[in-house]
Formats: sequence, C-alpha cells, structure tokens
Amino acid sequence: MVPEPNFPAQPDEFVGRDTQIEAFRQVLAQGLLTGRTPSFAVLGDWGVGKSSLLLKYSAICSKPEHAMLPVFFSVSTELSDYKCFAESLLDTFTRTLETSDSLTTQFRNELQKWKLSRLSIGGVSLDRQGPEFFLTSGTAILKHALHDAWRQFVRPAQITGVIFFLDDLHNFTDPRAQGIALALRNQFQEFAIHGVNYSLCFSARSDYFSNIRSFAEPAVRFYDKVYLSSFTVPETREYTAAVFGDSLRTHHLSQWLYAKTFGHPYFLAFVSRQLLALAHGSLVDPEALWPAIFKRLEHEKFRSDLAQVTEREVQLLREVAKAGNDEVSPRQMSNQYERKYFSRLTEKALLLRVGRGRYKLYHPLFRLFLQEDDPARSNQEQGNASAAAGRCERASRERLGGLQHERRYPARRARIRSHS
Ligand SMILES: Nc1ncnc2c1ncn2[C@@H]1O[C@H](COP(=O)(O)OP(=O)(O)OP(=O)(O)O)[C@@H](O)[C@H]1O
Ligand SMILES: [Mg+2]
Repeated sequence: MVPEPNFPAQPDEFVGRDTQIEAFRQVLAQGLLTGRTPSFAVLGDWGVGKSSLLLKYSAICSKPEHAMLPVFFSVSTELSDYKCFAESLLDTFTRTLETSDSLTTQFRNELQKWKLSRLSIGGVSLDRQGPEFFLTSGTAILKHALHDAWRQFVRPAQITGVIFFLDDLHNFTDPRAQGIALALRNQFQEFAIHGVNYSLCFSARSDYFSNIRSFAEPAVRFYDKVYLSSFTVPETREYTAAVFGDSLRTHHLSQWLYAKTFGHPYFLAFVSRQLLALAHGSLVDPEALWPAIFKRLEHEKFRSDLAQVTEREVQLLREVAKAGNDEVSPRQMSNQYERKYFSRLTEKALLLRVGRGRYKLYHPLFRLFLQEDDPARSNQEQGNASAAAGRCERASRERLGGLQHERRYPARRARIRSHS
C-alpha cells in the first residue's frame, strides 16, 4: 500500500476496524431480514478514518449478495439550506442509479426522461411562507422523488435497498442543523414505514449528537452508532505490514510508529510516507529520520492549522499546550478566554471537547509543535543567552551568537526524540 495521508483509504487497502465492520454487516443482515435497513452514524474526530470507513461500507454493500445501491455523498459546507441539500442529494442519487449495472437500457432511458420531468416538479412553488420554508420544500422534494424512483426504477432493477452515505454531516453549519438531523430522521423513518428500503449512513465529528438539544433527541435515538478512534496497536501493526511488508523488523517499526502517532491514521499515513521517501530502503534507525519528518509535518500540517486561526486563538492553543495536563478546563487557565474561542477552535477541529467543560488539543504531536514553536519560549531562551553573554567579554559574546543557535536546536531535537 502507498500511504496517502490526504485521501481516504481505498476499500481494497482498508486496514482493521473489525468491530465497526461487523456492526455494519449486522445492519445489512437486519435489513435483508426485515426489508428495512437501520440507519447508521459513524462518529469520530478529524483524520481518524471516517471517509475511509464509509467508502469501505459502500464497497461491502455493493457486493452482489446484498444487491444494494450505495449512494456516496460528501456534505459540503457550501450547501446553504435543506432544499439545496435535498436537490444535490437527489442529483447524486440519480447519477449513481444511472451508472448502476442493475439498470437495463430501457430503464436507463426512462430515468433520463424522469430526470427531466423532475426538473419541473422541482420548480413547483411550495409553501413559501414562514421560516420553515426551506425545510418543508426540501422534505417535499425528497419525499416525492424518492418514493417515485423506488417504484419506477429501484424495484424493477431488483435492487433491494439504497443506502445514502453522507460524509461529514457536521459540515451543515446552517443554524437549523438540529432541524436537519430531525428532518432526515423523519424522512427516513417515513420511508421505512411504507416499506421503502432507503436508509442513511452518515459520518460526523464525535460531538455531533452532544450538540443536539433535547427537542431533536428522537434524531439521536434513530441511528445505530459506531465510534471511531485511532488505530489500536494490532491495527497499527497491520497498517505497517501493509505499507512496509510483514517481517520481524517491521514489527519493531510498528511499535516505533505507534509511539510517535498513537495510532492516529492520518499521522500514521503521513509519517509512513515520509519514512518511505527518506529511508531509501533502510529502515534500521527510523529515529534518525524523525527530525526531518517532524519538520515536514510542521510545514504541511501544523502551520496551516495555525494559519486559519486568529492571534487570540493561537494564544489559547499555546496555553493549552503548556498546561501540565493533556486536558484543560477553561476555568483553570491563567488567562480567561470567552467560551466562543473554545467553540470556534472545536469547530476548526484543533481542540477536542472531551467532556463537559474539558478540552484537549487534537493530537499530542500538535501539542509538541505548539510547545516547540512558542515564541515566548524562544524569547526566554534568547534572554537567558544574552544575560549569560552580558557577563562575557565582547569577543566571547560574538562567539555566543553561534552558540545560541546551537543551544536551541539540540534541545529541541532532544525533546522531539524523548517524545518516543
Ligand atoms: N482503515 C484504514 N486503512 C488504511 N488507511 C486508513 C484507514 N483509515 C484511515 N486511513 C488513512 O488515514 C488518513 C485519514 O483518513 P480519512 O480521510 O478517511 O479520515 P477522515 O476521518 O475522513 O478525515 P476528515 O476528518 O479530514 O474527513 C488517510 O490517509 C487514510 O488513507
Ligand atoms: Mg473525511
């Protein structure tokens, strides 16, 4: 396998996650038995493998024995409202159906006509009054078109059911996001009641449901849930073997990788890719390559993390990194920050909310970067150095200029190493 940190894993290169895959197989089995497939939520933090898992699920349910149609839909932040969402989802659904092998040429032609006729239905003026307009019309469009398609195309093509895979549902930043969770639940429950086997499998950040207030609680209950976190030690070993081959030496390498990345799939993919590029076939001493790998991480990932936040937010992040504990509570911090800073950084996936009023940085490597990169620390070091220099003769002070640099970086290298 070639590690590609910026793309979801291909289903045939997918590693581990046995529990989550088993849970999905059970959902499929239940759907086969009852004619209605339970809806499913995959919850996990940034880069942990949500899209990869959804793609794997999609590949599993498209196997001939299931005769299901997977419809994969990435929820973009650009979707402005539920109506826009409904239309884009329908569009993806129609395109997927069109390319399905199960559809005969005759049905494919009819589907073309149906698409055109739907355009005029979409234009029908619906109840445009009140704040619920977008929700109502989106619901109406989905309900009408999907029932219709079930009768006209899905059943005749011998497809037993359709699963809509909605990747990154949290991207709906619409203020009515909670209404959307509830609207989707109502919609898909209605299909189930009418014996129409459409179901949903979505991915979202791990705190997605905790943000839903009580009025939308039925939406929480509706979904079977799987939680995704970093790879376990055996999964990391499996990943390492897939990338570097399975031998006694890669056993050792997988322990090293786990110690560096804590099994986080994105970082695992990133570090593995750099190792392959730098090691030139010899992986006897990966630690010697770590400073170069960490530098690359700084440039490709951590610096762009900081580029999307304000100065005040960077200050908060640095303070969290400096705290003695991994987890902090806003009240404990020496500077007081308004709540909005914490929620913004959580939205940007740089802070994780780990409990009521408790937060931590999204990964220990990011924490290490913030500690290393802290200008306050550099200034202090420089201050110390010049105090020492003040005591020296002018000549030796000149020499110290070089030494300062020397002092900073070996210390930094040592700290990066001691991380393992
Ligand atoms: N099961 C897996 N097998 C192999 N590689 C994986 C697996 N899960 C994740 N990865 C790798 O980890 C990286 C992140 O995975 P992915 O994009 O699926 O995460 P994500 O949770 O969807 O991220 P985001 O929060 O950015 O949407 C990718 O490089 C992917 O190839
Ligand atoms: Mg993703």
